[in-house]
Amino acid sequence: MGEVIRIHEVGLRDGLQNEAAFVPTDEKVRLAGMLADAGLTRIELTSFVSPRWIPQLADAAMVAEQAPRVPGVRYSALVPNLRGLEGAKAAGLDAVAIFLSASEAHSKKNINKSIAEALEVLEEVARAAKAEGMWVRGYVSTVFGCPYEGAVDPAVPVRIVERLFDVGIDEVSLGDTIGVANPRQVRDIVGRLQAILPLDRIALHMHDTRGTALANVLAGLDLGVTIFDSAFGGLGGCPYAPGASGNLATEDLVYMLEGMGYETGVDLEKLILASEHVAELVSRTLPSKVLQSELGKRIKDRDRAARSR
Ligand code: HMG
Ligand code: MG
Repeated sequence: MGEVIRIHEVGLRDGLQNEAAFVPTDEKVRLAGMLADAGLTRIELTSFVSPRWIPQLADAAMVAEQAPRVPGVRYSALVPNLRGLEGAKAAGLDAVAIFLSASEAHSKKNINKSIAEALEVLEEVARAAKAEGMWVRGYVSTVFGCPYEGAVDPAVPVRIVERLFDVGIDEVSLGDTIGVANPRQVRDIVGRLQAILPLDRIALHMHDTRGTALANVLAGLDLGVTIFDSAFGGLGGCPYAPGASGNLATEDLVYMLEGMGYETGVDLEKLILASEHVAELVSRTLPSKVLQSELGKRIKDRDRAARSR
């Protein structure tokens, strides 16, 4: 058995929040089932945020209530405030993710709050969730660069992470919101955090906007990081970060990790079925390279079979 890597699947949340098409609730529910069937054990279902800000996820309560629960799978949702936490709890979730930015301008655009204001709200949310025995993840966005401010001082996300762990969160996910990070930055920031946190509390959330996501994952792996976020098909981005298209595709991550001898527990063929289905629903070709290659191979095989008839 190779080392186990935990994949945190964010396609239904980070992916769909950035698609022009609204995916119907029953299809989101069906996709959640397909992802669990493919072996994913962490599925971020939706966000309990303002439907004015993120209309694509306006059906959060229904999705979270109706998604089939497979034992051993952790189902979570994003919550920006106590109201979101209440919504997640009422929908039967026992895991939530709070989120804030490491840059002031992105923070304002994303949640209409300064970093200090956001921290105050989120500390209250985290305390309330922990008091209920919930699992809490904290996302820090724009760790590696901001669409409005450019470079981000790494001391800022480190201070934010310290504050969040002081109120008892379980895990932090470091977001390359707009896909600008490079492996040297990953080594720098993970190295700083490693000095204050166990490595198994640190996840990397890479967007592949500029093709550097897997290189960044590799830098994380070399340091001992074992939790990575990705979206099936390579769906997604952040609607308040111009140009932020494409989370790292789960297929591409699984392909590389399994090839290197790591254990992900994911069945690539089943995952591809889910990605093909969501691609139809959002009416666009999805960027996952492994998905593209598989679809290309099928077309070739079909043509060959037709010629030989
Ligand atoms: P606001 O306008 O400052 O606050 O928004 P508000 O309290 O005045 O509320 C505005 C409206 O939202 C009101 O309704 C509230 O009732 C409602 P209205 O009067 O306009 O009809 N509201 C809510 N509705 C449902 N659920 C709630 C809730 N709270 C208030 N929980 C707020 C502040 C935070 C609500 C807003 O800015 C918001 O919802 N932002 C969401 C932004 C978002 O989801 N961004 C994408 C996720 S972050 C991300 O993708 C990055 C990540 O992937 C990591 C990475 O890549 O780096 C995680
Ligand atoms: Mg993201």
